Amino acid sequence: MKAPRKYEDLRSARWFAAKDLRSFGHRSRTKQLGFGAEDYAGKPVIAILNTWSDLNPCHGHFRERAEDVKRGVWQAGGFPVELPAMSLGEPFMKPSTMLYRNLLAMETEELLRANPVDGVVLMGGCDKTVPALVMGALSMNLPAIFVPAGPMLRGHWRGKTLGSGSDVWKYWADLRAGVLPPSAWGEMEDGIARSNGTCMTMGTASTMAAVTEAMGLTLPGASSIPAVDSAHARMAAAAGRRTVELVWEGLAPRDIVTRAAVDNAITTLMALGGSTNAVIHLVAMAGRAGIELPLSRFDEISRTTPVLANLRPSGEYLMEDFFYAGGLRALLKNLGDRLDRSCRTVNGRTIGENIAGAEVFLPDVIRTPATALAEEGGLAVLTGNLAPGGAVIKPPAMEPRLMRHRGPAIVFRDYNDMAARIDDPALPATPDSVLVLQSAGPQGGPGMPEWGQLPIPKKLLQQGVRDMVRISDARMSGTSYGACVLHVAPESHVGGPLAFVRDGDMIELDVPARRLHLDVAEAELARRRAEWIPPPSRYGRGYGMMFSAHVGQADKGCDFDFLSGAGPVPEPEIH
Ligand code: FES
Repeated sequence: MKAPRKYEDLRSARWFAAKDLRSFGHRSRTKQLGFGAEDYAGKPVIAILNTWSDLNPCHGHFRERAEDVKRGVWQAGGFPVELPAMSLGEPFMKPSTMLYRNLLAMETEELLRANPVDGVVLMGGCDKTVPALVMGALSMNLPAIFVPAGPMLRGHWRGKTLGSGSDVWKYWADLRAGVLPPSAWGEMEDGIARSNGTCMTMGTASTMAAVTEAMGLTLPGASSIPAVDSAHARMAAAAGRRTVELVWEGLAPRDIVTRAAVDNAITTLMALGGSTNAVIHLVAMAGRAGIELPLSRFDEISRTTPVLANLRPSGEYLMEDFFYAGGLRALLKNLGDRLDRSCRTVNGRTIGENIAGAEVFLPDVIRTPATALAEEGGLAVLTGNLAPGGAVIKPPAMEPRLMRHRGPAIVFRDYNDMAARIDDPALPATPDSVLVLQSAGPQGGPGMPEWGQLPIPKKLLQQGVRDMVRISDARMSGTSYGACVLHVAPESHVGGPLAFVRDGDMIELDVPARRLHLDVAEAELARRRAEWIPPPSRYGRGYGMMFSAHVGQADKGCDFDFLSGAGPVPEPEIH
């Protein structure tokens, strides 16, 4: 974007600097807020988009942190204005925050478009808030810096560390198997979430913050700082200061999010053994920058990128350890030439310059390519007649014996069917069964809930089984693990082949060959397809109706058709 040369060139000057009736209102109402001309005149207006909410514990520190950002904006000669934006609190919202990611992206774009704003600090962290804020900011393309919420402290229980999500799934399975007493489960509830901040495993929040940093949209090192570390407040203030400079430099998100920057983000995702959700979000984010991103690109990069982060659910440690080990800058440095070091970032330097002095302090936490957790394959993209548009699996987080597997399907037509039957002793499940969940995709869920880590049937848990092949058009939490084939596209609700699987059908999963095959004759599949009756629309009104009409499939990032792409939208008339 073009750098402004003087105050009158700023976007906000259209509101404040004119000599007409409307600008009288803009100035007098700013004075009503208690700000005189000495506070705002001649200064860039920096919006602070704050996704704080009482129902988002991951952002519990954001009211305080917004004040830190404001301090930085004032220091650098800007005028900070805090704008509350919808908070997507992962622990509480139903059926899924994913239903609302695009709504927050729209809100972000329109808040920036409608108001006198020159630059923006985006405050998010809990899973979908990250892509949503970045998508909206990319579409509006005003100078922007992302301030990640930061991970919470490690969980503790009886001298052991507890990781968000990952250890919940693990100990829940033990509880159901009868090997963990209910009293211990209650103790964990007290110790697993000890501070503000996002999930401290390498779940979706940690992954999305890291890939956003790798794309160049945060200050260096920002994504690894624990929420309650004093460095986090200093980082927030620095982001405020730097955003003012960005406005005068005319450096906007689409100048930063190039194809090479997106590749850096994917490389980082793979090296972290990060969340499968990031695949969907990166496709959507890149789309807002006008970059088409096929799933095959993820697989290409996965095959040449070692998994360097020893973090749960793929590894052992937690985000607090990762920060002490040197954080993301240290991991990026260990990636060497796999990263395009020439990409620009929001601090005005290249990513190569930003990581030049980084060091690894705990080599078991941040590995080198020689000591990697896996030589390649942080995530794998599968295709075949069961997923013509693709599907995703996370090989480092599954039992290796299942990498090549053939077994008979047990089909659940939706989540309620699965919940009602999964622990039925009569369910014909064996360790070789393939559990299939239908109606859990973008339209079917609706909102593609995180149901993809189907529970292991209780009778198998009691036999010691802890992993099975599971297939769905759902997502799974980034903190989850197991041989879960996710994001099957197209989804069953719109007539994808997953809708035509029947109990007993043989399914073949071959991760090394990236293959997912339903071993049923094409003529039989055609017969089932002809008999299939499309399910009725779920919504007769409201946002859900708009969502159903416009959401794309998982392989296209689940963005709305009318929001994707980087086409221009007119600025509002100021009258
Ligand atoms: Fe907010 Fe996990 S619940 S980041």
